[in-house]
Amino acid sequence: MAFHEKQLPADAPIADKALNWVDARFPLSATWKAHLSEYYAPKNFNFLYVFGSLALLVLVIQIVTGIFLVMHYKPDAALAFASVEYIMRDVPWGWLVRYMHSTGASAFFVVVYIHMLRGLLYGSYRKPRELVWLFGVGIFLCLMAEAFFGYLLPWGQMSYWGAQVIVNLFGAIPFIGPDLSLWIRGDYVVSDATLNRFFAFHVIAIPLVLIGLVVAHIVALHEVGSSNPDGVEIKEKLDAKGIPLDGIPFHPYYSVHDIFIVTIFLFVFTAVVFFAPEMGGYFLEYNNFVPADPLKTPPHIAPVWYFTPFYSILRAVTSDFMVWLAAGVAAYVALIILKTRLASKFKVAAAVIGLLVIVTMFVTDAKFWGVVLMGVSVMIMFGLPWLDVSPVKSIRYRPDWHKYVYIVFGIMFVVLGYLGVQAPTPIGTAVSQIGTFIYFGFFLLMPWWSAMGTFKPVPDRVVFHPH
Ligand code: HEM
Repeated sequence: MAFHEKQLPADAPIADKALNWVDARFPLSATWKAHLSEYYAPKNFNFLYVFGSLALLVLVIQIVTGIFLVMHYKPDAALAFASVEYIMRDVPWGWLVRYMHSTGASAFFVVVYIHMLRGLLYGSYRKPRELVWLFGVGIFLCLMAEAFFGYLLPWGQMSYWGAQVIVNLFGAIPFIGPDLSLWIRGDYVVSDATLNRFFAFHVIAIPLVLIGLVVAHIVALHEVGSSNPDGVEIKEKLDAKGIPLDGIPFHPYYSVHDIFIVTIFLFVFTAVVFFAPEMGGYFLEYNNFVPADPLKTPPHIAPVWYFTPFYSILRAVTSDFMVWLAAGVAAYVALIILKTRLASKFKVAAAVIGLLVIVTMFVTDAKFWGVVLMGVSVMIMFGLPWLDVSPVKSIRYRPDWHKYVYIVFGIMFVVLGYLGVQAPTPIGTAVSQIGTFIYFGFFLLMPWWSAMGTFKPVPDRVVFHPH
């Protein structure tokens, strides 16, 4: 396209001239319009739709505080712990920066879990937003990796032993496991080499991928437009100018709304930073105020709260549980064969894969299957857009009993999270085994249950009461 600069009157304000100069060379106004002032968002957003913006805010907090921490932190096994104490005691405002970063990590997961819950309740992952969701799950994986790598950096007892436990898990993979964990650690135990590479991942590799995915997430969302609590596609009803009848410009309507909620969020965030940064050992574990000691294993090693639902699934897989797991796989394959209209070649494939899985279950260690289930419990989220076949998107128009399915799933997720923090007990293990079945049942049986029951009619236009 030929270069084109608008001709402004000689007495036009200098700001207009500057913008005109930039716009001819870079799509500044066009981007502002496309993503803010002329991005038409549904009128009926509720409170749950602010968590995407809050996640962006926390991302910025983490990057900015992280940059300041790196200025004083030493990624060296002999110096790391002391350098964090130095930040806390001697660096001006260092304690604030560090507590903002550690609280920010937990806040990130609180915000992102609510953001994902919103997606689940309103079916935001359904066509045409599958890619928005896939990028989201990618973000979630990156966040988990980012938190895991970052946790080693203070080089406290929990950092050290947490990393030791998790890296050792890879050792359970048949054949390649021991070499793989050696390769990840870069040493026979978690050591300075491990700290250096985790530092590289935490400060540069993962953040780069994370930022790239967040950009892709928002670009994909703005391509198809936001959904809403009714699951009505607002782009299907346009006015004469091609603007959605149920849409309003994101800026200023939602930008103002989001800024208001940001202030409330910051109230809560600063209250935690100033009054309860350790949050009773949930945000910063007490054992992590003790320097790492490779010769002294803490009696109870538990990951930080945001990992514990998945950690519980890992621990649920004991050798006694394997027979139940094998029965579960057999039942699922039977369901695919008897209750789907798949072509017979797919049914045969399902039977063969099921049989292979069951056979390997009895010749490999339960620990390996714990690792597999933990991995699959996160990866299964990628499949959600295709597992949910309900004729409506939003929970509002689903049969009432679907709500109970979500409630049971939600309660079980929290219970798994709680159990993952506690030391294992026979009762706890039994409950987490039931929880594991419920967790996977929710997703794997979704192609059946999500289509069952009497659905309510979805309105043509969004439900909106001006206030
Ligand atoms: C750094 C983390 C993340 C950031 C900054 C982020 C940002 C955003 C923003 C700004 C929006 C638009 C506002 C909104 O609908 O809330 C959005 C929408 C969405 N996000 Fe995220 N997100 C993040 C993580 C995730 C994750 C982990 C998932 C799911 C696994 C996810 C799934 C979605 C979906 C499905 C939508 C579309 C909602 C709709 O239109 O109904 N996001 N995200």
